[in-house]
Amino acid sequence: MPSSTDTSDRAKVVTLFQQKGGSGKSTLAVNLAAVSGQNNPPHNADDPCPVVAAGIDRQGSLEDWAARVPEERLPFDYVVTKGRLGEIPDLVADPAVKRVFVDTPGFVETDPDAPMDADPLGSGPTAKALEEVLDLTDLALVPLTPEWLTHRPAEFTIERVLKPRKVNFLVVINMWDSGNDRAREDGTRPELEKLRDWCRKRDYPFAAVAIRRYKVHSKAPEDGLTVIQYPESGTSLRAREDFYKLALTVEQAL
Ligand SMILES: Nc1ncnc2c1ncn2[C@@H]1O[C@H](COP(=O)(O)OP(=O)(O)O)[C@@H](O)[C@H]1O
Ligand SMILES: [Mg+2]
Repeated sequence: MPSSTDTSDRAKVVTLFQQKGGSGKSTLAVNLAAVSGQNNPPHNADDPCPVVAAGIDRQGSLEDWAARVPEERLPFDYVVTKGRLGEIPDLVADPAVKRVFVDTPGFVETDPDAPMDADPLGSGPTAKALEEVLDLTDLALVPLTPEWLTHRPAEFTIERVLKPRKVNFLVVINMWDSGNDRAREDGTRPELEKLRDWCRKRDYPFAAVAIRRYKVHSKAPEDGLTVIQYPESGTSLRAREDFYKLALTVEQAL
């Protein structure tokens, strides 16, 4: 029986996008691709994976990480375009591909003195690669962390790049330190509510689940793991649960 997603004509593209590096783009791209890949295995063992993680990051975090996961445990294919044009459109047009998770590099405003309505991506090679991806993006995920320095770049990303292009987006709160965010008497968590209020004030949609900060996430690339390989107990189970919830939210938003 074909599943309902087989009826859509082309692969859906989920793009991790935020001006600031270090906010969790690569972490979210790899782990969401892993959960999606687990849920969409190839029909036959020899078929290509219907889920692809694509990096246009020159740094190659995605490649470095995915290459460390033993091949038989990696539930998605990955490509690194290194800014070459045409590869993401080809993937999207491939009838065997259902989901593409794109990891992007942070970007730098080309000219901070440019007028407010100028396109901050400019016209360099990275800008062209980002443009190409954004044109195909069904859902952009913008990571927001408790670190104040990620807030302005998140807003800039949304107001100056995503909204003008009418790209559908969702803010994802990442690196929430839940252990140090004691609940008030009414049950709310001050740090988390502050981040949610930041989104509400700007009318930005945000994912109901916040991705908690866990050491297991920061060690995963070195250990050659994605969330689906985490042990199913204790902290690892909680760390992985956040990504399973987020994956569900992403599917619902597509
Ligand atoms: N939820 C999290 N808990 C713990 N560490 C995290 C979490 N999300 C990201 N990190 C770590 O923070 C650093 C930056 O994340 P990364 O995904 O590389 O960001 P970006 O791709 O936006 O530069 C990495 O060392 C990563 O392992
Ligand atoms: Mg990265």
